[in-house]
Amino acid sequence: MGGSRISYSSVQFLTFFTSLLLLPNVLSLSNNTLPTLPHRNRREAIEIGIGIGIGIGIGGGGSPPPESPPSCSPPSSGPQPCDFENILLYRAYKVIQKFKSTITCDPQGITNSWQGYNICSTYNGFFCGIPPSRTTMRNVASIDFNGYNLAAPTINGFVDQMPDLAIFHANSNNFSGTVPDLTKLPFFYELDLSNNILMGSFPTTVLPLANLTFLDLRFNQFSGCVPPGVFDIKLDVLFINNNNLNQPLPAELGRTTAAYLTLANNRFTGPIPSSIGQACNTLIEVLFLNNLLSGCLPHEIGLLSKATVFDAGTNQITGPIPLSFGCLMKVEQLNLAQNLLYGEVPDVVCLLADFGKLANLSLSSNYFTSLGKSCWKLIERGILDVRRNCIPWLPNQRSPEECGWFLKQRKYCPVSPYIPCHIPWVHGGGVQSAAAMVAGVDGDRDKAPASRYSGYSALHNGHGP
Ligand SMILES: *[C@@H]1O[C@H](CO)[C@@H](O)[C@H](O)[C@H]1NC(C)=O
Ligand SMILES: *[C@@H]1O[C@H](CO)[C@@H](O)[C@H](O)[C@H]1NC(C)=O
Ligand SMILES: *[C@@H]1O[C@H](CO)[C@@H](O)[C@H](O)[C@H]1NC(C)=O
Ligand SMILES: *[C@@H]1O[C@H](CO)[C@@H](O)[C@H](O)[C@H]1NC(C)=O
Repeated sequence: MGGSRISYSSVQFLTFFTSLLLLPNVLSLSNNTLPTLPHRNRREAIEIGIGIGIGIGIGGGGSPPPESPPSCSPPSSGPQPCDFENILLYRAYKVIQKFKSTITCDPQGITNSWQGYNICSTYNGFFCGIPPSRTTMRNVASIDFNGYNLAAPTINGFVDQMPDLAIFHANSNNFSGTVPDLTKLPFFYELDLSNNILMGSFPTTVLPLANLTFLDLRFNQFSGCVPPGVFDIKLDVLFINNNNLNQPLPAELGRTTAAYLTLANNRFTGPIPSSIGQACNTLIEVLFLNNLLSGCLPHEIGLLSKATVFDAGTNQITGPIPLSFGCLMKVEQLNLAQNLLYGEVPDVVCLLADFGKLANLSLSSNYFTSLGKSCWKLIERGILDVRRNCIPWLPNQRSPEECGWFLKQRKYCPVSPYIPCHIPWVHGGGVQSAAAMVAGVDGDRDKAPASRYSGYSALHNGHGP
């Protein structure tokens, strides 16, 4: 087992799987061209390449089929191994045909192409490549059924029987049943089962998938609890919005490595865990929108220095906005509308429109009673929405009765003056003089890990760009 073999495998893997990453919906992998890598995929591909290289070096279980042309057994009915490019594709053929026979609905006639011996070049939705464990033999490496509207009672016995599979995308199909156990697939790293009719409890089968980077289970009918272990998978993307998940958010949430975390449109309860601050180096977009969250806003949210979107709108969260939110230097969209928030809208938060990236501060339908002095002009600029609050002298506010009622409710959230960052224009005396200092504060929007993902696009059930 020489080093050259390992690095060759790594390069193969990198070449092949990088191209998968680049074109998730329009894969064309009948050859092994290496496209140029934009932004994050380069980093990810390299990490995976390294991981795989090591894995091969120490692994090596089983006896792989020889890389010679399959021999023919005596003629009988049905395709023979020698009809195929290699034995792996013969095996894939059998798995695909078996799955095809279970498909109950195929409005686009996709499966009509699933015949003959050239899986790699003629079967719609299947893409081949040389797996890292081989030097010349191709196998099915990616399956992309996005938007095919296929119906089948289960994908068990199909996806899990494709030993070299790296990617399975099946947005907008009618697959039911359970999520298969994919732990035997060493190269697997992207699972998209969004907008299907999967139900039952959250699939614990995904928990052991240590190499998974992308998990998209949104728009299904999963109910109950999210096992805390989900937040220990080293994911870049976790989309579980639009299910029926209902539990207090686990404290483990802060362990997530995901840059894009979308929990919207479920029935999650309890407060946003203060552990969220631990995700400060990775979290870019987080959507808690439209759940049943309650409690106070933890000041640790202010530690999310990379966050461009923080959305906890339409919940039952109460308390004042912690001053730490003034540290959200990268935040563009801050939505806390339709909650039970009160007090003053902090000046430091409104200043983010001038000195940070804030473009939309949505606080309508709360119980705020005053505005920091920089906030007033944000209303005129169309950045701040404070309609349906309790702010004197402002139009479109709640009735005195509603405001009076809320005022009488017990308030238990702490006022948190703690500001976990240096805000020069606040401490440095005068907003005017701070302007110059700020120019250098902030670089471009953080594009890592990938601009193809966006939390908000996850709120639609299509497969996006
Ligand atoms: C490889 O595939 C790409 C995309 O289908 C195509 O543009 C290119 O010409 C192919 N290269 C070779 C060497 O076949
Ligand atoms: C993760 O990838 C490595 C390298 O290919 C492999 O050895 C390992 O089995 C994979 N782990 C899982 C849980 O799939
Ligand atoms: C699933 O099946 C139902 C009923 O057969 C159909 O109305 C719906 O459009 C299908 N959904 C998808 C995503 O194909
Ligand atoms: C601002 O954010 C709110 C809440 O997400 C959204 O409803 C509204 O359309 C946004 N406004 C603009 C101008 O983008």
